[in-house]
Amino acid sequence: MCGIIGYIGKKDAVPIIMRGLRRLEYRGYDSAGVSVLNHGCAIEMRKAVGVLDNLFSAVDKNPLAGPLGIGHTRWATHGVPSSENCHPHFDCTGNIMVVHNGIIENFKELKDELIKKGHRFSSETDTEITAHLIEEALSAGAADLEAAVRACIARIEGSYALGIFRKDEPHTLIGVRQGSPLVVGIGKDEYFISSDVSAIVESTRQIIYLDDGEIITMKTGGYHITDFKGNKVKGVVKKVTWDVEALDKAGFEKYMLKEIHEQPNIIRQNLRMRVTKDKKGVAFDDFTISDDVLKKISKIYIVSCGTAYYAGFTGKYLMEHFTSLPVEIDLASEFRYRKPKLLNENTLIIAVSQSGETADTLASVYEAKGKGCKVLAICNVVGSTLTRESDGTIYINAGPEISVASTKAYTGQLLSIYLFTIYLAKLKGEMTAAAAAALIKELEAVPNKMEKIMRGEQEIIEIAKKYCKAKSAFYLGRGFNYPNALEGALKNKEISYMHAEGYAAGEMKHGPIALIDENFPVVCIATKGSTYDKMISNMKEVEARKGRIIAISSNGDKNVPQIAETVISVPETAEEVSPLVNIMPLQLLAYYIAQYKGCDIDKPRNLAKSVTVE
Ligand code: F6R
Repeated sequence: MCGIIGYIGKKDAVPIIMRGLRRLEYRGYDSAGVSVLNHGCAIEMRKAVGVLDNLFSAVDKNPLAGPLGIGHTRWATHGVPSSENCHPHFDCTGNIMVVHNGIIENFKELKDELIKKGHRFSSETDTEITAHLIEEALSAGAADLEAAVRACIARIEGSYALGIFRKDEPHTLIGVRQGSPLVVGIGKDEYFISSDVSAIVESTRQIIYLDDGEIITMKTGGYHITDFKGNKVKGVVKKVTWDVEALDKAGFEKYMLKEIHEQPNIIRQNLRMRVTKDKKGVAFDDFTISDDVLKKISKIYIVSCGTAYYAGFTGKYLMEHFTSLPVEIDLASEFRYRKPKLLNENTLIIAVSQSGETADTLASVYEAKGKGCKVLAICNVVGSTLTRESDGTIYINAGPEISVASTKAYTGQLLSIYLFTIYLAKLKGEMTAAAAAALIKELEAVPNKMEKIMRGEQEIIEIAKKYCKAKSAFYLGRGFNYPNALEGALKNKEISYMHAEGYAAGEMKHGPIALIDENFPVVCIATKGSTYDKMISNMKEVEARKGRIIAISSNGDKNVPQIAETVISVPETAEEVSPLVNIMPLQLLAYYIAQYKGCDIDKPRNLAKSVTVE
């Protein structure tokens, strides 16, 4: 939800900012802008509405350069995507430049107040208020930009990560973090700020993850961090360990396809890291919730959004299957607004999130923590807000996920949930070592099965071609594969804009079946397992209404091909583990349908990768 970047040093800021914006583009692509203080100490700015390429063209046509600058890629919240609303924003004098990610909730009243004092606004955004508040503070006598920024943030409410510089202090760049992510890169005589490590990791691997309520002031000769009251804070510098190559497409046409293909190795690697040598259990080196605390847990709530919610949903099925614990799954955006019971120190909240920055998920975590619950994060992004707010984290170690549509994070989240379930069930004495070994064996077989499905990719391409013109589709599953049906439908609708609905197959007859006719594709997950017979009956119901069934079926199955118009065969897998295998053809199907429809797969319209507003 918007990406910000800033640079101060001896190099030209523009190529660094532009390269960084390319990495941040997934956070929003409604407009983008860059502003620098050039070598003659004048401010220059370029802005462009629409995709980032438009800004690249504007900069090519009319180049700018300077050792200090900020950039922004926007996902519109306040004000339509337009040149006026494009960041950076500035004050009345045009001397104070600001980029912002987040929402300033009280901007309207502040704007009215400032207009009365004679300020003229150039945009409809909430962000612009900050530049004017800084201007006010400076004219009221603030000693320098840092003091003026402090005065500004004393007035604003909401969530924000800010990057700020000023013409009259040519050696200062300021970053502020409150409720939206901001990382600082430490180079040799140069500093970077960014919403995300991926935007600066090619320049430096030395990173400070700012905490909420902190301000960093970077000057050409050094930096200091303070809290909002002005007290000194010691920023801890951490080293990024993942490969920069992980950020490239590695020969794939799109990030999404690359990320789908990375899944087998991510699962292999994580199993290697987590499964104990005797292959009868699981160990988490990075996990800090003690066994004593876990043993006392009497209730689990899983909270998450979107794809992460569907991963969590499978977690409910798994944990209820393998342990005696009651497990509830909640959309994070709903959890806060109902009155969930038994939120206390014996309740475990499992917050599942790729980014660790999703505002709704974080809000649920704060709510639950306030009631004394323990929080376990299942997360991809190291150092993200969620991981810092949680009592323990299981990292999914999927590497940077760039495509807006989540794929490898989903299977990474699922795997972590399987492993945690084994850990918990064994700890509670509810799973024997032999049962754990059998489940682990099934998990270890998953990567090869995924690779087998990818070898049949051409077949899925043909199937996508056959169905890509449909207006609507159903995705049906039961039991462990019901959440997978929801996820398959989400993938389809978000990248190909084809209306798709996931349903529990048994629900069809209670209403939705009325929609079925001879033009309606129905994707049915019908692999072997305890609900197989019921699924066959549900498929027959669809067949009787002439629906066009695309079935995901276990290799060698004789019944499904008799009912389905199209069959995608997958290797047979234990029912409990099958979601990890069965999602693969659904991801590929969605991908190729979107490709046939000519959609911008990695950057679907109206979406952003990291949803940092509620
Ligand atoms: C869909 C997708 C989103 C995210 C959701 C939560 O492909 O990516 O639905 O899953 O916005 O994001 P995280 O996992 O970062 O909390």
